[in-house]
Amino acid sequence: MLSRNSLRHPPTAFKGDEVQPTSATPAAGALVRPIPEVAPRRSKVEAYNVADLRQLARKALPKGLFEFVDRGTENEVALRTMREAIERTMLLPRVLVDVSQRNQQVDFFGRPCASPMIVAPTGAAGLLWFDGEIEIARAAARVGVPFALSTASIVSMERVAAGAGPGARLWFQLYMWPDRRLSMELVERAQKAGYEALIVTVDTPVSPNREYNKHNGFTLPMRISRRNVRDVALHPRWFVNVFARYMMRSGIPTLENYPDSLRTRLNQAQSPLKCDSLTWDDLRDIRKRWSGPLILKGILRVDDAVKAQECGVDGIIVSNHGGRNLDASVPPFVVLPEIVDRVAGRTDVFVDGGFNRGADIVKAVAMGAKGVFVGRAPLWGVAVDGEPGARLALEILREEIDRVLAFTGSPHLQSLDRSLLHRAPAPSAVAILQDLP
Ligand SMILES: Cc1cc2nc3c(=O)[nH]c(=O)nc-3n(C[C@H](O)[C@H](O)[C@H](O)COP(=O)(O)O)c2cc1C
Repeated sequence: MLSRNSLRHPPTAFKGDEVQPTSATPAAGALVRPIPEVAPRRSKVEAYNVADLRQLARKALPKGLFEFVDRGTENEVALRTMREAIERTMLLPRVLVDVSQRNQQVDFFGRPCASPMIVAPTGAAGLLWFDGEIEIARAAARVGVPFALSTASIVSMERVAAGAGPGARLWFQLYMWPDRRLSMELVERAQKAGYEALIVTVDTPVSPNREYNKHNGFTLPMRISRRNVRDVALHPRWFVNVFARYMMRSGIPTLENYPDSLRTRLNQAQSPLKCDSLTWDDLRDIRKRWSGPLILKGILRVDDAVKAQECGVDGIIVSNHGGRNLDASVPPFVVLPEIVDRVAGRTDVFVDGGFNRGADIVKAVAMGAKGVFVGRAPLWGVAVDGEPGARLALEILREEIDRVLAFTGSPHLQSLDRSLLHRAPAPSAVAILQDLP
């Protein structure tokens, strides 16, 4: 019997090693017919928090792929400290407040959103589940939060727009290529495909040093080695449900947003093109061309936040790329308050990096963030159970936020402020030494 997805995407013709664009892999920019709505299925996965989903994803995915998503860079200091910064800030609950009518609704750029969360752009979703980007976009739409699609996604922006379902709020994340003209064409495509906001990521001028990917043989171009063949062989479900389906439809996946001149399959592709010559002039140029909300991603300094504001951005994301780029970078949560104090009011300040619990998100909003981007959490969900799994991840966070609002005497997000936050002092080197046996 044909599955819903196989009906949606008839197989693609092969000619030599080239994928011939068909309705399955439309040429860049081609219009795609919307996918009919079907009743949502609830996930039967036994996961009660994001950590449970991560453990299940660890079992489901080849190690190389799991670690590509899970880990940081170099010594993984940034990965640890971004979590520590959140955990060191604690909540001072307020009691005897009527919290019987709780709601966590918020406005992003003048439109209501069910919860102060946005799905962060991640390039890997389509490798974790067949057409994974569409699955997460649908999950986000059902939960009522925006979904940000990466330039480096496996599924094209047009197919995501066609498949995300009614009510979806889609934002597009731009990695600029050295050829600015091609990047601007991508921006035009996003506008035409109905994307509401544009996120420009500026914290990745070069490829990060993720040594574990090399140890795992998980590099671009993808190479077949004894190690990764064994890794995949130990995960036959992933092979059959994800990789084999791509092979049957159109061959080894490509980065579908890339224009034909840059698009290669993952076994031929160099690591996604980085642009190390980007300046504030490029941002001003994008501002002139993009009329919708413009968001700058990867800000960690107050002076950069001020410059971004002067360039006319509508939002910034305080982010160290989930601890995946510069290992010595400061944790986003540590610099969030000073950036909020300087630019919030005229520019919305978002944050991301290590927000795995509703309480983490509540702390960020209490600190003055407009919302929190979550990256790995929905990825674990989609890896385990497609759209219902991604929805489960988002619903878990939404329920946790609701519970924390009740515990802290906060009927809605407007009741959150810094009086609810208590920052424990960082353990000093002397205290650590005194603790040693
Ligand atoms: C597997 C993976 C791929 C990512 N790809 C992108 C990307 O293509 N563009 C981008 O701006 N950020 C990318 N990010 C960073 C996320 O947008 C976000 O900043 C980060 O995941 C937030 O941290 P969290 O995963 O702890 O929530 C990626 C993150 C992960 C984990």
